[in-house]
Amino acid sequence: MSQVTLRFIKASLIYLLVGVSMGVLMLLWPRWIGVYLPVHAHINLLGWVSMLMFGVSYHILPRFSGKQLYSDMLATLHFWFANIGLIGLSFFWAMQRHKGAGYEAFVILFTLIEAVACYMFVFNMWMTIFGKAKETA
Ligand code: HEM
Ligand code: HEM
Repeated sequence: MSQVTLRFIKASLIYLLVGVSMGVLMLLWPRWIGVYLPVHAHINLLGWVSMLMFGVSYHILPRFSGKQLYSDMLATLHFWFANIGLIGLSFFWAMQRHKGAGYEAFVILFTLIEAVACYMFVFNMWMTIFGKAKETA
């Protein structure tokens, strides 16, 4: 498996631990649901589910299509943008819901980083499967 696949799988397993633990804490202290629900949801869905899918996709989709991955560098950038985006988004989203105003700019900044990460993945996969990526021998 490539480094980017291994990194995404490692990250996804860590997000699963964090996301599920947050869920348990929210059940134990339901008054925090109002603050942490979207962070819990997105750590699980963008962190555990999407990152596992990114990692697995980088491994299997080029192989299924008989092509080499269009850009390894873009995949590495995707990994860092996705993680910096999600961690920043989670932190500032929780702060915003906890303390009210004052954190919007940070939430937007990390949202954009997370979104750009997703666009990188879409572009790289699209070019790999439907574009002119090199065929594997
Ligand atoms: C032991 C594991 C988990 C526990 C204890 C847990 C607990 C919770 C709790 C207490 C809520 C708030 C429900 C409410 O009152 O509105 C919630 C919401 C949510 N959880 Fe989890 N969760 C767990 C795992 C997961 C996983 C693995 C995912 C996704 C893969 C997930 C996705 C969500 C989503 C999307 C919501 C928001 C649902 C909505 O909008 O109403 N959770 N969870
Ligand atoms: C850059 C990426 C994303 C951003 C900025 C984003 C943003 C948001 C926002 C602002 C909400 C409303 C939260 C609220 O109730 O105040 C929301 C809800 C939700 N999103 Fe996302 N989302 C993203 C990606 C995703 C992805 C990839 C999934 C699923 C795989 C997802 C699943 C959900 C679900 C299930 C809800 C309802 C639960 C909740 O209220 O948190 N989101 N999202």
